[in-house]
Amino acid sequence: MTQITIRRPDDWHLHLRDGAMLAGVLPETTRHFARAIIMPNLVPPVVTGAQAAAYRDRILAAMPDGADFTPLMTLYLTEDTDPNDLAAAHASGLITAVKLYPAGATTNSASGVSNFENVRAVLDRMAEIGCPLCVHGEVTDADIDIFDREAVFIDRVLDPIRRATPGLRVVMEHITTSQGADYVKSNDKDLGATITVQHLVLDRNDMLVGGMRPHYYCLPILKRGSHREALLAAATSGDKRFFLGTDSAPHPTHKKEAECCSAGCFTAPNALSILAETFAAADALNKLEGFTSLHGPAFYGLPVNQDTITLTRQAEPITWPATIPAGSETVTVFDPGFPIHWNVT
Ligand code: DOR
Ligand code: ZN
Repeated sequence: MTQITIRRPDDWHLHLRDGAMLAGVLPETTRHFARAIIMPNLVPPVVTGAQAAAYRDRILAAMPDGADFTPLMTLYLTEDTDPNDLAAAHASGLITAVKLYPAGATTNSASGVSNFENVRAVLDRMAEIGCPLCVHGEVTDADIDIFDREAVFIDRVLDPIRRATPGLRVVMEHITTSQGADYVKSNDKDLGATITVQHLVLDRNDMLVGGMRPHYYCLPILKRGSHREALLAAATSGDKRFFLGTDSAPHPTHKKEAECCSAGCFTAPNALSILAETFAAADALNKLEGFTSLHGPAFYGLPVNQDTITLTRQAEPITWPATIPAGSETVTVFDPGFPIHWNVT
């Protein structure tokens, strides 16, 4: 097969930032995607309905001419989140989900949750009103190895939260391990997971052998190859509980190529081309549309997109600009390290 037409995809996990960075990166997403779940980890974070409305307006103001794109807003859960404000933002359609960052887990997560008992009432309310919780699933305990933080989170935090609040709809964001995939598969109801492009195509050797590659550093960190294989099997299985969330996370190039490198891969420009290459190599192109365009809307109870995109395999590998400009800075485009032949038209 050298060509495939699929319903226009959505990105169920995206960082757009603000200001000049937002203006620089937004066209890279609106070119291919119809909707995206917008992460709220700005500085300061998007905590209230009013802040989400203001951020949505800034995104809409930065849209390139002619773009047809809907940002699906989220609130950043804190121990002080007001359940009434959250419920009102959800009821009005302003927000689609709420994001849980364990305090200190990743970029701009300092205002996240330390004591999960303190958000129990908010989670109960979310279960009642059907507002999904998007979870960054890593513990932050200093004594837990960074490669084990996702698996430990499932046992110590996520499973207890889900038992304490039955009916809470949860998306495990950017799963990176076989334990993550297995946990999702062992639950029939109210649980889904997003998977990024980089976690489907890279393992930790790609990041660390022969020199350290900062543009492959993201959180949760890349794991060993067997985990990548488990994620690829889940993504290409057709199982509706797994869907695309790129976690495209732009940082200025100088903050990636630094003594202390920021976490995040900027995959918005080439995510779909890399996925087509990867699904084709796995002989699973017929499962691509489900992963990119059908399973996410089904989980969120939203209509699927009516228009389509076409992916065409060309003989020569495709090249992307090494960087894109964002104000006075640049953002380095993710390079998977192998040739990509699938063009989006
Ligand atoms: O790699 C990451 N980058 N992981 C996250 O959880 C946050 C993100 C960011 O905001 O840069
Ligand atoms: Zn993210």
